[in-house]
Amino acid sequence: MKKSARRAVIAGNWKMNKTPCETTALINEMKPLVKDADCGVVLCVPYVDLCAALEAAKDSNIEIGAQNCHWAKSGAFTGEISADMLVSMGVKYVIIGHSERRTYFGDTDVTVNQRVRAALDAGLTVILCVGEYLEQREQGVTGELVAMQTKIALGGVSAEELSRIIIAYEPVWAIGTGRTATADQADEVNGIIRATVKELYGEAAAEAMTVQYGGSMNAANAAELLSKEHVDGGLIGGASLKAADFAAIVEAASR
Ligand code: 13P
Repeated sequence: MKKSARRAVIAGNWKMNKTPCETTALINEMKPLVKDADCGVVLCVPYVDLCAALEAAKDSNIEIGAQNCHWAKSGAFTGEISADMLVSMGVKYVIIGHSERRTYFGDTDVTVNQRVRAALDAGLTVILCVGEYLEQREQGVTGELVAMQTKIALGGVSAEELSRIIIAYEPVWAIGTGRTATADQADEVNGIIRATVKELYGEAAAEAMTVQYGGSMNAANAAELLSKEHVDGGLIGGASLKAADFAAIVEAASR
C-alpha cells in the first residue's frame, strides 16, 4: 500500500490545559479552519472538557478523544475513568501510554497493554504512544525499545482490531522541548514500528497502519515531517492549543 492510501490523522493532545468554556471557544475557532481537511482530525481533551468538546464538535469533522482510561470496566478505583464511561458519552478515541503517564503516573508496558485491551473492548480507537528517553537514544536502543513497547502493548490484540489502533512515535526528548526529531529520525523509527507490526500481523496490516509522529511538531516543521514515507500524521501538544497553528498542521497533512 502506498503512503497516500493510508489514513493520515492529526490529533491534538491538549494535556492538562483548557476549562470547559475555553474548550468550547477553541473548538468553535478551529471548526471553520479545519472543515476541508483531507485527513482525520481528533482532539484529545481533559476528561472534564469532554462534554463541552463533544457538543462544540457536533456536526463537524472534528472527532473527540480522551487522554487515558482505566483497564477495569468499573470498581473501586478512586479518581479513575473507564473506557465504557467514555464510549457512553460519545467519545471515539483515547490516547494510551503517553510518556507523561509512563513517567509521572507509573504506567508500564503491561498496564498500557491492559488499557489498550479495555479501550478496544469498549469500542474505542486507541492512539498508542511509544518512544525513547534521550539516554536510551544515546545508548543506541531506540529501535529495540519501540519494538518492545509496540509488541507488549499489542499483546492479545487481533488482526481485525488493528484497524482501531494508531501508533504515535513520540521521542520523550522532543516533547515540549522545541527540539523536534529530524524528519529522517522520525521516518526511521516510524519505519521500525511498521516493521514490528509486519512481524506480528503481516505486510498488509503493517502497510495499512497509521503511524504518527509527535514531539514539538508545529506549523513550521509539519510539512517536512509529514512528507516522509512512514509518517502518517501527528500527535500535537503545544501547537494544538492554538487554532491557526493546529489548522496549518492539518492543512500540511491534507496535501
Ligand atoms: P508537544 O507537541 O508540545 O511537544 O507535545 C507532544 C506530545 O506529547 C503530544 O502527545
